[in-house]
Amino acid sequence: MAILRPQSDGCYLDATVGTGGHAEAILLESGPGGRLCGIDRDVEALALARDRLRPFGDRVQLLHGDFSMLGSIAAENGWGPFAGILFDLGLSSFQLSEPSRGFSFSRDGPLDMRMDRRGAGKTAAEKLAKLPEREIARILREYGEERFAGRITARIVAERRQRPLISTVHLARLVAEAVPRRAWPRRIHVATRTFQALRIAVNDELQSLTRGLRDAVSLLAPAGRLCVISFHSLEDRIAKETLRSCARSEPPRLRVLTKRPIVPTRGETVANPRARSAKLRAAERL
Ligand SMILES: C[S@@+](CC[C@H](N)C(=O)[O-])C[C@H]1O[C@@H](n2cnc3c(N)ncnc32)[C@H](O)[C@@H]1O
Repeated sequence: MAILRPQSDGCYLDATVGTGGHAEAILLESGPGGRLCGIDRDVEALALARDRLRPFGDRVQLLHGDFSMLGSIAAENGWGPFAGILFDLGLSSFQLSEPSRGFSFSRDGPLDMRMDRRGAGKTAAEKLAKLPEREIARILREYGEERFAGRITARIVAERRQRPLISTVHLARLVAEAVPRRAWPRRIHVATRTFQALRIAVNDELQSLTRGLRDAVSLLAPAGRLCVISFHSLEDRIAKETLRSCARSEPPRLRVLTKRPIVPTRGETVANPRARSAKLRAAERL
């Protein structure tokens, strides 16, 4: 909020409204007149945000949508220019902890991993059943930065010849079997990188982010601010490079406000361990 500086005459966009926590803070700080447009690709998150933000009445407009289509969503709905835009990437806690969504390896559920369950995208189970071995290995290597991508993929391919791979705990067990015990990471579960990689592939997250940030820069009003909170190095690299290239363009479109990303304090990560990998980068439209 210190960077976004919500004002009562401002209109703000929350591109990942989730369950509405940041949106609520923006509306409180920009009272009584500030307005907020919000999108999320997950209808279940959006329903929770609608409930939470109901007290703000017509100051809020929420839509189901993917931020990779931000330009056309804004054009169709007469949105923008915005005094501030926020991207808080990744998953909401409720998505992670709901076994039926398939994001978590600690409780068994279907290998789904789609953020938009209404869309036409394939589930993680469908991808693992159909993709060629080398494509699965590429996904694990590039999106999970997984050193044992080859071994894990070989284990997956051997298993899918015997029986369909449809549950999260089943996949986590295969990963644990494929990675030598002495190489298991100390701080995270051995399947964390595989799950991250599949989630990124299922939701086409990196392409979406590149497109969404590009559209967001064009939707900022002069002196409007863009904030991006990322949770892993691939997202952070895209945020950093997009902000930098807009700051170096001729004429420059942005001024970067964060030389280094802002990270949570120790107190914050103790209170909320899921924040531990968060990085916030911000820029201002020139
Ligand atoms: C970390 S949560 C946001 C939490 C939110 N800031 C809050 O305060 O509740 C990320 C949200 O972004 C959504 N999301 C991820 N990728 C998206 C995309 N390409 N377009 C729209 N929403 C997306 C997810 O469905 C999830 O609800």
